[in-house]
Amino acid sequence: MLLLPLLLSAVLFPGGDNEHAFQGPTSFHLIQISSFANSTWAQNQGSGWLDDLQIHGWDSDSGTAIFLKPWSKGNLSDEEVTELEELFRVYLIGFIREVQDRVSEFQMEYPFEIQGIAGCELHSGGTTVSFLRGALGGLDFLSIKNESCAPAPEGGSRAQKFCTLISQYQGIADIIRKLLLETCPRYLLGVLDAGKAELQRQGNEARGLAVQWPGHLLLVCHVSGFYPKPVWVMWMRGEQEQPGTQQGDVLPNADGTWYLRVTLDVAAGEAAGLACRVRHSSLGGQDIILYWGRSTSIGLIVLAIIVPSLILLICFTLWFWRRWSYLNIP
Ligand SMILES: *[C@@H]1O[C@H](CO)[C@@H](O)[C@H](O)[C@H]1NC(C)=O
Ligand SMILES: *[C@@H]1O[C@H](CO)[C@@H](O)[C@H](O)[C@H]1NC(C)=O
Ligand SMILES: *[C@@H]1O[C@H](CO)[C@@H](O)[C@H](O)[C@H]1NC(C)=O
Repeated sequence: MLLLPLLLSAVLFPGGDNEHAFQGPTSFHLIQISSFANSTWAQNQGSGWLDDLQIHGWDSDSGTAIFLKPWSKGNLSDEEVTELEELFRVYLIGFIREVQDRVSEFQMEYPFEIQGIAGCELHSGGTTVSFLRGALGGLDFLSIKNESCAPAPEGGSRAQKFCTLISQYQGIADIIRKLLLETCPRYLLGVLDAGKAELQRQGNEARGLAVQWPGHLLLVCHVSGFYPKPVWVMWMRGEQEQPGTQQGDVLPNADGTWYLRVTLDVAAGEAAGLACRVRHSSLGGQDIILYWGRSTSIGLIVLAIIVPSLILLICFTLWFWRRWSYLNIP
């Protein structure tokens, strides 16, 4: 009898397993974080990302890229990789020097941090859109719009002044334009192709289970193996979202995909008609819906477990009794 709740806790929803194809990531971007502690101490951190999957690091001491995946170079030639590393090395050292030289001109106060993000994104129809944004202490500072520097409102007059300054450096503008509009889209297509075996993995899975205790059911919806990270999971009754739904954190699987547990605590009699609904970009608009106990009611499951247990128990008792009486026949 002690076994019964344990058995129930592992009951899967009928038809709970689903497999869906992935579309994989669609953008590449570089992130630069430059920290300035005081007039003599500053450091750069650099990284490269496919959506939210990191594929490059940057070793500031040696000024070289760290390739985190065997396919991180995409289809760039070794010469091209060396050339780009040299370009970023010179840029990052120069960036720190230029900023330190202009601290008083721009009325900056130590310590401060500058963040930059630049990359390109694949849109439907095969077009790519490039972007570059800079922030100061986490507030938008500037962006590149229509190939020219656009100060952000949060950046105030300092951002306007910076855009005016940068527009005098035609050489730098040409390099940035080439990187954003030519190199990035070509690299993005190349790296998506080089890494496709790992990036377009199958294996999205949603599972439901119920843990029971007197008068209550904890309905658990477990969604695993999805990529990219954004996902929407909700316990529903018909079209109505259940406000008691508890979302866990979206946590990483070892293979770079994500999982999420979403639970709902209900009174035992109120579980019928509830369903766990999963919405994700890899599902192409077709939500996964797991119904709780639509055809297999808990009662049937209890019967299915109790009846064989009882039969087994009776057989065992009979066998034991007969054996016992046989052995004791004088
Ligand atoms: C500058 O900042 C670094 C790192 O925080 C610190 O180790 C160093 O002592 C500071 N130097 C001065 C002159 O304040
Ligand atoms: C982009 O710039 C060009 C000329 O530099 C201009 O003709 C065009 O209107 C601009 N587009 C937008 C959306 O601002
Ligand atoms: C890399 O792949 C892209 C997209 O398939 C292609 O346009 C480009 O020419 C390739 N580059 C090299 C160096 O092979």
